[in-house]
Amino acid sequence: MVLSLPENAFIDPSGHNQAQISSLLKATADQILDYLSSAATHPPLPELDPLPLATIPDQPGDLAELLAPLQRIMTQSMNPAHPGYIGHMDPLPTTASLLGDWVAAALNNNMLSVEMSPALSRLEPQLMAEIAQMFGLGERSGGLLVSGGSLANLQALTVARNLKLNCLDQGLIGQVPPVILASEMAHTSIQKAAMVLGLGRQGVIPVAADAQGQMHPEALENCLQACLRAGQRPFAVVATAGTTVTGSIDPLLAIHRLARSYNLWFHVDAAYGGALIFSPDQSYRLEGIHLADSITFNPQKWLYVTKTCASVLFRDMTWLQDHFRISAPYMNDLADWTNLGEIALQGTRHGDSLKLWLALQHLGKAGYAALIETSYDLTRSMVDYIDQRSHLTLACTPAMNLVCFRSCPRALPESQWDRWNSHLQKELLKAGQVFLSLPWWRGQRWLKAVLLNPYTTKEHIGQWFELIDTLSVSVGTDLGV
Ligand SMILES: Cc1ncc(COP(=O)(O)O)c(C=O)c1O
Repeated sequence: MVLSLPENAFIDPSGHNQAQISSLLKATADQILDYLSSAATHPPLPELDPLPLATIPDQPGDLAELLAPLQRIMTQSMNPAHPGYIGHMDPLPTTASLLGDWVAAALNNNMLSVEMSPALSRLEPQLMAEIAQMFGLGERSGGLLVSGGSLANLQALTVARNLKLNCLDQGLIGQVPPVILASEMAHTSIQKAAMVLGLGRQGVIPVAADAQGQMHPEALENCLQACLRAGQRPFAVVATAGTTVTGSIDPLLAIHRLARSYNLWFHVDAAYGGALIFSPDQSYRLEGIHLADSITFNPQKWLYVTKTCASVLFRDMTWLQDHFRISAPYMNDLADWTNLGEIALQGTRHGDSLKLWLALQHLGKAGYAALIETSYDLTRSMVDYIDQRSHLTLACTPAMNLVCFRSCPRALPESQWDRWNSHLQKELLKAGQVFLSLPWWRGQRWLKAVLLNPYTTKEHIGQWFELIDTLSVSVGTDLGV
């Protein structure tokens, strides 16, 4: 071992520093456990103090001594385990996914190729094929794990473009301007994908959504006709199953019908809502998803798997071979399984399948169904509190566990309602330890709750609405109106 390195710089493969490493791992595990086991007593979103110095030291340090600054960073982090952390689609992780992630980090294999991850390059396709079949995509289906839903959407739309426009080799040169159609409520990553694919942001045609935040099939057909009249070439339509602000689900069957009659690729962005496939009671909401050509589904959201863990699923995996694959000559092409780096946008990639597999093995389908049901129960309770208050309005009737609402007090002029809701959001966090996010939706500020945390109770929800009542008594005075 090089002399200037600390003795515990690596875990000695012959076991010479095992005792020392063992005490470090135990100290770190204890620190994590102490923090997570008391997460309900830390704020959901802490105030930031100065962070530990980030300058890189000239000389090696003592790892045990670094646990103290590590602790400071931990306690200044977003705290999704807090029962009041309901602002975003970011859950606390399951224990199994945390352990799986730890093991994957320790193995440090590479999903680029079979020889660099012999076990995980087999596990991932098996798991993806099983999940794709749960969505009803059929026997030729499968998928890939990717680092986030944005990349999943990009990979799906890249394959769609290559296949529908036959442009794997020549690109878009000389093509009629291609466009993608997506709801005005679709995630911004669709526009990013269009930008990367050479279509520009205007290459996504926004289709109007109805009052429930769902894409209007009639509006879709009108847009398609308008595109054709304008000399554009629509090649894909993106439906969303769980929009980011209101959790709305587009009418998948109707959209598929149009996709088929206009020869479009049918992509479903179910980054959030795909989890409903695990709930026998709620999966009906995804009716028509089995007809998708590709699906984005993020287990890092409603399956509570540590980040990042997102997937892109295809109805036919040969599409990836024929319309995407770039083989890597530096890889062993005698591999009995596909080198995943050749069919994925990403090359080197973390072994995310391990944590997903372990989480699924641990909770099973029934465990996830129970988690999903619990959050629907909380959602109904929250909607009741909103319905009982005349100044609170729902953006849409929730189709999932997202509740998007705003306060519209008569004591204030309408022009002040955005400011009032921003004020409420801040006060609820300060006085009630509840973190709601504050999205813009249809040009107005709304309060958004994502009821993912299984430790959030109806009692918590009751307390938050009592606080909203208390804060609402002084509406106007607080805003200086
Ligand atoms: C519907 C939808 N699609 C895609 C994404 C993008 O996912 P990521 O942030 O993992 O890239 C999100 C993120 O919230 C989303 O809500």
